[in-house]
Amino acid sequence: MVGTRESFGLGLVRLYITVIVQTRLQLTFDPREESSWATLAKVDTCRDYVPFPAQPTCFQFRVISQAFKLLNLIINSEKKNMDNSTTGPTPKRIAVVTGSNKGIGLETCRQLLSNGVKVVLTARDEAKGAVALEKLRASAPTDVVFHQLDVTDPRSVDAFANFVKTQFGKLDILVNNAGILGKTPRSQLPPDSVSTGETYQGAEDCLNTNYYGAKRVTEALMPLLLISQSPRIVNVSSIYGKLQHIPSKDLQKEINDVDTLTDDQLDELVQSFLNDFKKGDLGKNGWPTQSSAYRVSKVAVNAYTRLLAKRFPTICCSCVDPGFVKTDMNGNAGILPVQEGAKVVVTAALLPDGSPSGLFYDANHVASYE
Ligand SMILES: NC(=O)c1ccc[n+]([C@@H]2O[C@H](COP(=O)([O-])OP(=O)(O)OC[C@H]3O[C@@H](n4cnc5c(N)ncnc54)[C@H](OP(=O)(O)O)[C@@H]3O)[C@@H](O)[C@H]2O)c1
Repeated sequence: MVGTRESFGLGLVRLYITVIVQTRLQLTFDPREESSWATLAKVDTCRDYVPFPAQPTCFQFRVISQAFKLLNLIINSEKKNMDNSTTGPTPKRIAVVTGSNKGIGLETCRQLLSNGVKVVLTARDEAKGAVALEKLRASAPTDVVFHQLDVTDPRSVDAFANFVKTQFGKLDILVNNAGILGKTPRSQLPPDSVSTGETYQGAEDCLNTNYYGAKRVTEALMPLLLISQSPRIVNVSSIYGKLQHIPSKDLQKEINDVDTLTDDQLDELVQSFLNDFKKGDLGKNGWPTQSSAYRVSKVAVNAYTRLLAKRFPTICCSCVDPGFVKTDMNGNAGILPVQEGAKVVVTAALLPDGSPSGLFYDANHVASYE
C-alpha cells in the first residue's frame, strides 16, 4: 500500500497522475497499490509505452513523464529528510562530573566543554555550584547546566538521577571526582603534633564520600549509562590507590584478585578497615596507619572500577591518578596545575570506542594497580 504519511505536494502529484492514467490512458490502475506505481514508473518515454492498450499522444505521455520526474524528486527529497531525522547530526555527548564546583572537577568540566561535550556541573552546595557555573560560562562554551549533588546523601543522588533522566534520557560520561582527604592536613596540625590528623569520624566520612559516594552515584546513573551508544565511567583515584599502600600481602592479594572478588566482599573489607580503625588495630591487621582512610578509599575505588568493567562489558570503565595537583585538598601544595590533572581525567573520559576497560591511568598512560 502507498504510505499514508506523505506531503501535500506528493499527494497532489500522485492524484494528478492517477487522474491522467485512469481517464486519458484508460489503464487499470489502483493508486493505493505500490505495484501499480511500480509498473507505471517503468514507462517514462513514448517508446516504453508500446505495450499499453490505449494510444495517448506523445504530448500526453510527456506530461505524465514530467509528472513522474517530479514525483521522484519529491520522494527522494522526503527520503533524505527522513534519513536525516532518524540518523541526524551526531547528538552531543552528556557528561556528569561530581564535585565540580572547584579544583580538578571544575577544570574537567571546562575541558569536556571544549571537546564539544554537554556538561552537568554538580556541587553539594547550591551557592558554590552557582558561582562555579558563572565562572565556567564566562570562560568556556556554554553548554553546561548545574544540579545539586551530594554523593553521600541517597536522596540527593536519587533526585539527581531523576533530573538527568528527565532532561537527557541517557548519560554518556560519568566522572566520579568528588573526594575528601578525611583528615586534618599535616600543615594544619601543631608543629610538634604526633597525631596522624585522622579521626574515626573523618575516616568514615572519607570512605562514605570517596568510595561509597562513587558507588552510589554510579548505581543510580547506571540505567542511563546503559542507554548510551558509547558509555564511559572515570573514577578519579590517586597514586594512593595502588595496592602497595596496603601493607598486608594477604589483603593485597584478596583485593587484587578481581576474578574472585565480589562487590559484597569489597564492602566487607572496607567495613573491616573501619572496625579496625575504631579498635585501634590498623597496624596489627595490615592496614596503612598514615592517611589510612584516604588510601583505603582509593584502593577500593580502583578495585570497584575493575569489578564494574567485568560486570558491564559495554561500558569503558577507567580509574585515574591525576598527579599531585595544586588544589584546596592539599592546601595548594601540589605541583601540577589543575589543567594537567584534569587532562588525565578527560583523556580517559574521551577514550575512543573499543578501548580496553578496567585500566588505571596516570599522566604516563596505563599504570599498574600494584
Ligand atoms: N589534588 C591532588 O593532588 C589529587 C591527587 C590525587 C587524586 N585527587 C582526587 O581528585 C579529586 C578532586 O580533588 P581536588 O584535588 O580537585 O580537590 P578539591 O579542590 O578539594 O575538590 C574536591 C571536590 O569534591 C567535592 N566534594 C567533597 N565532598 C562531596 C560530597 N559529599 N558530595 C559532592 N561533592 C563533594 C568538593 O565540594 P566542596 O567545595 O563543597 O567541598 C569539591 O568540589 C578527588 O577525588 C581527589 O581525591 C586529587
